[in-house]
Amino acid sequence: MSNHQRIVSVLNAQSVASNLTVKGWVRSIRVGKSITFMTVNDGSCVTSLQVVLNPGMDGYDNVIRMGTGSAVGVTGTLSPSPAAGQAVELHAEKVTIYGGVDEDYPLQKKHHSFEFLRTIAHLRPRTNTFGALFRMRSALSFAIHNFFKERGFVYIHTPIITANDCEGAGEQFRVTTLDIVSPPLCDTGIDFSRDFFGQATQLTVSGQLEGELLACGLSSVYTFGPTFRAENSNTARHAAEFWMVEPEVAFANLADNADLAEDFIKYLCRYVLEECQEDMAFFEKQVDPGVMGRIRAIADSDFVRMEYGEAIDRLEKATQGFQYPVAWGLDLQTEHERYLSEKVVGGPLFILNYPKDIKAFYMRQNDDGKTVAAMDLLVPKVGEIIGGSQREERLDLLERRIDEMGIAKHPLSWYLDSRRWGTCPHAGFGLGFERLIMHLTGMENIRDIIPFPRTPGHAEF
Ligand code: 4AD
Ligand code: MG
Repeated sequence: MSNHQRIVSVLNAQSVASNLTVKGWVRSIRVGKSITFMTVNDGSCVTSLQVVLNPGMDGYDNVIRMGTGSAVGVTGTLSPSPAAGQAVELHAEKVTIYGGVDEDYPLQKKHHSFEFLRTIAHLRPRTNTFGALFRMRSALSFAIHNFFKERGFVYIHTPIITANDCEGAGEQFRVTTLDIVSPPLCDTGIDFSRDFFGQATQLTVSGQLEGELLACGLSSVYTFGPTFRAENSNTARHAAEFWMVEPEVAFANLADNADLAEDFIKYLCRYVLEECQEDMAFFEKQVDPGVMGRIRAIADSDFVRMEYGEAIDRLEKATQGFQYPVAWGLDLQTEHERYLSEKVVGGPLFILNYPKDIKAFYMRQNDDGKTVAAMDLLVPKVGEIIGGSQREERLDLLERRIDEMGIAKHPLSWYLDSRRWGTCPHAGFGLGFERLIMHLTGMENIRDIIPFPRTPGHAEF
């Protein structure tokens, strides 16, 4: 490592220092007759460092012609700033230009729309919003690991390539090395027995099924990795590639599961308020006024738990209209989820015990014969951020449900084995990482939460 300092450390220390070097990208340059001011940002914090350039400096003429966006190294003396706006400033003695820009550089202006920035996803990490967002994304990843580590969970790695369809929605990306122009054929179509793995394989939609097997041996586990869904939904909250956190706990029921999810979300709220103060203040000021108060309120609240049946009653009694129909047996749409969390509860709420016919095969069947021990956590603005359940641990009921749903049993023999030998009650959930970040920052489009979003028609960066 070269011996330059990160701007965040320079600004935090605020101590007078000579021969200090910082490196970063020029955010602004204001050339005056007798003095030039430049701000430099290196992505370590929102605030840019003010640099003062004197005409007497070596190479001054080149430096002041350099455009916004250039990569530079600046060495000089850090001293208290006489002007308002910053506590310290760096008086440059030497500036190294690593890479200049020409007039085509797209980030010359101070403000750009998120839509425009999406078309230059390769350059947007150099803006304040995306700097703050990707720092938060990193901080939250560590917070997630801390939360589970403190509770004795084992961090496991579940496969990306699988032969199963956990959610049963058939929305998977095929993984194959077969010749797609003329694949080998058999009676039933393409002969996947001649494919790389000797069977048809896909990218995983969830690490849950494998997570269950590890929980039934290690007790409390979690996986945190990318998941893939080929659903053609062009909404602000669906991505084809997104990250999911999936804990799975043996000897736990639905109530334990909801308690864990509530502790988890509150922990993450407190974490960003305490550990990401500058970035959160940025989102509060520039993106979503009120977001910090909302997050603080969530951290201090008790989450409401509501039965699916009651949620339907509430929706049927709503005075406002909905685009999608509401009836017992139908799934909740985002508009319904938002109504319940924003208007009925005014905060996060769990919906419990959904009708079995709208949920996946693995959920534990309730004694009423109609519902399963499912839970979704809904939050204002985003809707569902967590989906989970207690799992069906009784072999006979699980097999019957698989048959009823027309799912092939043989490929799931390993899953059924966990119910055949040493089965136990267990439960878990999946938190959509991008949706969590949307909720915590007030950012409204999932395309702005992951550096290089994959959505229908888009994989260019
Ligand atoms: O509700 P889902 O489909 O649940 C599961 O996959 C379970 N196997 C999880 C488990 O119990 N271990 O997905 C879980 C969460 C959703 O609540 C949502 O936050 C997120 O994953 N999610 C998506 N996020 C972004 N883009 C998509 N296309 C998403 N689909 C689901
Ligand atoms: Mg769900």
